[in-house]
Amino acid sequence: MNSTSPVIIAVDGPSASGKSTVSRRAAKTLGFLYVDSGAMYRGITWKCVKEGIDPRDTQAVTNLLIRIKMELLVKDGAVTYLIDGEDPGQEIRGQAVRESVADIAAQQPVRVYIVSKLRDMATFGSLVMEGRDIGSVVFPDTPFKYYLDADPEERARRRAAELQATEGATDQAAVLSSLRKRDQKDSSRATAPLQIALGAHIINSTGMSIDQVVDVIITDLRAAGVIP
Ligand code: DC
Repeated sequence: MNSTSPVIIAVDGPSASGKSTVSRRAAKTLGFLYVDSGAMYRGITWKCVKEGIDPRDTQAVTNLLIRIKMELLVKDGAVTYLIDGEDPGQEIRGQAVRESVADIAAQQPVRVYIVSKLRDMATFGSLVMEGRDIGSVVFPDTPFKYYLDADPEERARRRAAELQATEGATDQAAVLSSLRKRDQKDSSRATAPLQIALGAHIINSTGMSIDQVVDVIITDLRAAGVIP
């Protein structure tokens, strides 16, 4: 790594492990760009839903990938995208996308397409990228890999609090059961399953504050001489 090559920080882990909050804050502290790779899979899912494409129909999804234009841009300290000139905004967080995104993310052509876009983002500068396969597949050569985890009950509590804020009353037991199902689906799929990347620094954030987790990353970068 020379002084001009971008630094990539890979933050992987299961859903509601605190990846987004930690990655955003670390990016802001370091002056790096933040990337939510899950939002890319959600974007493709959004386009499929919009066009009535079955997320399990590999041929139809492949045809869609050939047809669409996914353009990358930098906005508010993050790398984001437009699909055919449109910003899907909060629609990627809605129920229709939520229900189909795991099927889309399991499609091999989608993974090839998104991984290539994620790698292209390094041309914008140094990145903090969160996802499931960033340290294992997208940027396996980066020395800065983190696997963020938290106990399932803690993750369900965090997710329920988020849903409470955005959608009203939530049932924590139902959230826990849905989280466990998603973990199982993400970890057992044939293509790029959620796994701990070789050499990743494992952080169990149960009982840790966001700043404490960010500090682990900052301390590593300081020790490596990336920041003063
Ligand atoms: O992090 P998220 O909930 O927004 O992710 C949405 C879906 O995309 C989820 O099913 C996991 C999947 N995903 C993935 O397979 N690989 C990534 N790098 C990021 C997300």
